[in-house]
Amino acid sequence: MLFGRVKPLDQILEAAEKKGLKRQLGAFDLTMLGIGAIIGTGIFVLTAVAANKAGPGMMYSFVIAGIVCALTALIYAEIAAMVPVAGSAYTYSYAVLGELIAWMVGWALILEYAVAAGAVAVGWSGYANGFLREIGFGLPVALTAGPGDTITLADGTTANGAFNLIACLISLLITWLLVIGTSKSAKVTAVLVLVKIAALIAFVAVALPAVDGANFEPMLPNGWGTPLSGTGVLGAAASIFFAYVGFDAVSTAAEETKDPNRNIPIGLIGSLAICTVFYLLVSYAAIGTTGAQPGGALSQSKEPLAFVLRNLGWPSLGNWVGIAAIVALPSVILMMIYGQTRILFTMSRDGLMPKMFSDVHPRFFTPHKVTIVTGIAVSLFAAMFPVDALADISNSGTLFAFFVVAAGVMLLRLREPGRNRPFKTPLVWIVGPLAMAGCALLFVSLGWYTIKLFLIWAVIGLIVYFAYARSRSILAGASCLRRPPG
Ligand code: ALA
Repeated sequence: MLFGRVKPLDQILEAAEKKGLKRQLGAFDLTMLGIGAIIGTGIFVLTAVAANKAGPGMMYSFVIAGIVCALTALIYAEIAAMVPVAGSAYTYSYAVLGELIAWMVGWALILEYAVAAGAVAVGWSGYANGFLREIGFGLPVALTAGPGDTITLADGTTANGAFNLIACLISLLITWLLVIGTSKSAKVTAVLVLVKIAALIAFVAVALPAVDGANFEPMLPNGWGTPLSGTGVLGAAASIFFAYVGFDAVSTAAEETKDPNRNIPIGLIGSLAICTVFYLLVSYAAIGTTGAQPGGALSQSKEPLAFVLRNLGWPSLGNWVGIAAIVALPSVILMMIYGQTRILFTMSRDGLMPKMFSDVHPRFFTPHKVTIVTGIAVSLFAAMFPVDALADISNSGTLFAFFVVAAGVMLLRLREPGRNRPFKTPLVWIVGPLAMAGCALLFVSLGWYTIKLFLIWAVIGLIVYFAYARSRSILAGASCLRRPPG
């Protein structure tokens, strides 16, 4: 039976129980954690990418991507409160949909986390390079972006990148911090959230009064977009979806949450709601002051929010917003690499990934080997690829995982209706299918190039599963854990 190998939910819960993490996080902590993981390269950098695809219509893109995430957050809240263990979508799928699907989800999560970490590092480098240039220490242009990336210079000409040096270096630095045991501390997270929010509030406060309605014309220069085209409002929504990713980080803290029934849904949905409000205000102000036509100045900027402020005659505030991004974005990279290592760690403990991935450093007590392997991969992605390509690839993996989790939650309602559900997704038979449809819509809007890469990645995943992982799984041969067919 291909789909029959499941890891029973009760066994997962029992293992988590034994670990006994202290339940100390409340609704406020979780909301901060969520905002800490959500606000990053998406709003600070991909606003330009969205403008290039949709023009001022990117406002709709923010709304569409936000709705898909809100639906998914309602779904995540149910499973995260019910199975409050680390490992995210991979663990849920293992329990509900069996090993093969769990493997594919885990494999897709490598895109979600490791590639996203690379995307955030490249986004960060846009601001860091801009800042270095402002203070007269700019790097040679070829070292400010990867080979596939084009940079618009101050005189309007363009140049090609060769190696994104500081995106590579920041990824390695964060890897090192994770190896020596730096983790997300609630206090640091809260401070960085305040830095990010202060920067966005300052941006909106200055830009909003200068909005000019004429900048919204034409509203939809590229239309709504067609499947596989990767452009128009839907193409931009598929890219800007990246700006919302991270709310699921709240679910990874489920084991440490007091009263998870109440607090996890608040944390998941609250952090998403707050970010959505900021995103809409920021994008409205950016479009309304600067214009957002495809190919225009905003759409070509590597540091669009700082660019808007400089353009409005607030150069030092622009620099401060840049500094806020430079200070705060590395924590998003850290969370992404951290999430990746913990998923690979869990998969390794399940026998599906090499055993060395669950080795723990004798002094630092961190999974140092998997962290180093992940960090090197992230630093190479960051050095070689443009931010929009990385974000889109990451989105493909995330959308796949969200889709599967929504299916899993509904399936579990049917299969185990009596199981204790501290939080129940309201109207699950409407919310679930809508979440799946929304994920599917954004997925096909990603553009054929990204979808092709995703499919190649999935085929490689299947080959690795059948050639390597399946026979090494700790469930291999454990016939007692196989569900009877049907
Ligand atoms: N949502 C996160 C960001 O925008 C991943 O950087």
